[in-house]
Amino acid sequence: MTVEIHPLCGVGAEIRGVDLAGELTNSDFAAIRGAFADHGVIFFRDQAINEAQHIAFARRWAPININRFFGAHPDYPEIAMVSKDVEQKDNIGGSWHTDHSYDQIPAMGSILVARELPPKGGDTMFASMYGAYDALSEGMQRMLGTLKAVHSARHVFGGGADAVVAKSDVGGKQIGNTAAADALTDVVHPVVITHPLSGKKALYVNPGFTLRFDGWTKEESKPLLDQLYAHCMQNAFVHEFEWRPGSIAFWDNRATWHFAKNDYHGHRRVMHRITVEGEPLNA
Ligand code: SIN
Repeated sequence: MTVEIHPLCGVGAEIRGVDLAGELTNSDFAAIRGAFADHGVIFFRDQAINEAQHIAFARRWAPININRFFGAHPDYPEIAMVSKDVEQKDNIGGSWHTDHSYDQIPAMGSILVARELPPKGGDTMFASMYGAYDALSEGMQRMLGTLKAVHSARHVFGGGADAVVAKSDVGGKQIGNTAAADALTDVVHPVVITHPLSGKKALYVNPGFTLRFDGWTKEESKPLLDQLYAHCMQNAFVHEFEWRPGSIAFWDNRATWHFAKNDYHGHRRVMHRITVEGEPLNA
């Protein structure tokens, strides 16, 4: 096999010339790993992998993180079900976020395999936190480099007093274990991280799980966080991935955000997601 890496506008790269159902040589795997580290999200088309092959590919990267909040595949607990049924209104991941920033050691990323797609819609947008950081002024980069931020998932997955996100039919059917979310303690990460694989700087705050800057109140943090979020959402850093049968995306939580569009009401969308563990984050 000859691995081809085709960078995309905004963020990410499409990997061609590989069959993930087959055996990947060490050199093919190294090329894919390099593309993942450099581009933050990689995409594969026209793949036909079954659940066991999905799990085997994930294990090649790092140990699998079993999701605490999403429903699991009935036969493969390693696979989280990211699905929306015909009658559901809300979807999973329908706003900008990066997964697991609420953990002390955030997961590396997730490998999402399309299993059942709506006739149209249901794209996933990705945004580059390398690109967003690089485009900031030197002064802003320096200032942000002195800050840390507090992250939590209680307000998203919890059921207690901190939960400000209304529980919807998504919450009832697809997401559970509110007690585990309520038991989470806040974690603090640098606002600018040095990516553990690429060594590049990336902005590490996100609208889903970042509560405030460490040592600042929520009110004090909001204007600067809002300014950063608006900066990160610019088209220059965003790629919208159109799913097709056989498509796979593997995103890096430390280098990207993502947003699953919810524009296909009345249709089913079923995705299989495996998340792999990451490394400690440093400034
Ligand atoms: C997610 O994991 O946030 C959902 C991604 C998607 O369904 O496209």
